[in-house]
Amino acid sequence: MARILTGIQSSGRQHLGNILGAIRPAIELSRDPKNEAYLFIADMHSLTTIKDAATRKENVLATATAWLACGLDTNKVVFYRQSDIPQVAEMTWYLSCFTPFPMLANAHSFKDKSENLADVNAGLFIYPVLMACDILMYDANVVPVGKDQKQHLEMARDMARSVNHQLKEEVFVIPESEISEEVMIIPGTDGRKMSKSYGNVIDIFLPEKKLRKQVMGIVTDSTPMEEPKDADTCNAFALYSLLASEAQIAEMRKNYLGGNYGYGHAKQALFELIMEEFKEERARFDALMEDHAKIESLLLEGANKARPIANGVLGRFKAAIGF
Ligand code: TRP
Repeated sequence: MARILTGIQSSGRQHLGNILGAIRPAIELSRDPKNEAYLFIADMHSLTTIKDAATRKENVLATATAWLACGLDTNKVVFYRQSDIPQVAEMTWYLSCFTPFPMLANAHSFKDKSENLADVNAGLFIYPVLMACDILMYDANVVPVGKDQKQHLEMARDMARSVNHQLKEEVFVIPESEISEEVMIIPGTDGRKMSKSYGNVIDIFLPEKKLRKQVMGIVTDSTPMEEPKDADTCNAFALYSLLASEAQIAEMRKNYLGGNYGYGHAKQALFELIMEEFKEERARFDALMEDHAKIESLLLEGANKARPIANGVLGRFKAAIGF
């Protein structure tokens, strides 16, 4: 039985891109009875950029709600909030003393951030050490992440190996990474990759009217309604294809080619498909948003399951370094 672990950025409301690209595949993976899955919301990492208390709480809540609404089963997955097991911060100190400075200085995500962010704090610099502790502290065997996290994973493996080597003891389990090379790129309403920072998202959890407005705002070209249209260069078609059945896609392609079918029609069809596809998720989301106490108690239950493992590994490490 492999222990699979991954962290979720607590970035708040999750859009269609997050759901199709990350949430659904992760939930799928967690359903495999061969695996033991650990999934946590990385709210301590968010402190590198977000300092406001209300924003952090809201983001954690909205993130957890989206995952649960999409079908995450907390009986099958240990689902917790990073900060509920703050021992990870203690371990970050110990591990950082085993981490060569140049390794962190060479991290491309740090270089990226330090060039682009106004607030370049030390937390950003040791971000990979906290992330390594997230993984090592739970004896994780496999860590599925996107390509952008590949280097962080390699660093975690290097840190673990170097501790085991220096202390001449198997303190840490060496985690394997599982990099999804072809993370689905979900186009946003303007055709670029769907991303909160581009303001081009479709938020399937919005009230119906607002959701419709987002869908109708998908950018298309100005081919007149009567004329045939090219499905393969159209955003609305691309999004439709991600959700529709083969038969529906073929039908839509015919509509595009046939003319007398406007982009407005296509967007309306997409909107209806979204409402249908995410009917249950939307209902669960609304119910959960009304019930913060429920989310809170689910997260605390998860932390109660994870904590003994964390304490065990921390104890092993501390004993090996003489604390
Ligand atoms: N850094 C990851 C991201 O930005 C989130 C994360 C934090 C993570 N800790 C982790 C992922 C541990 C995997 C394992 O997406």
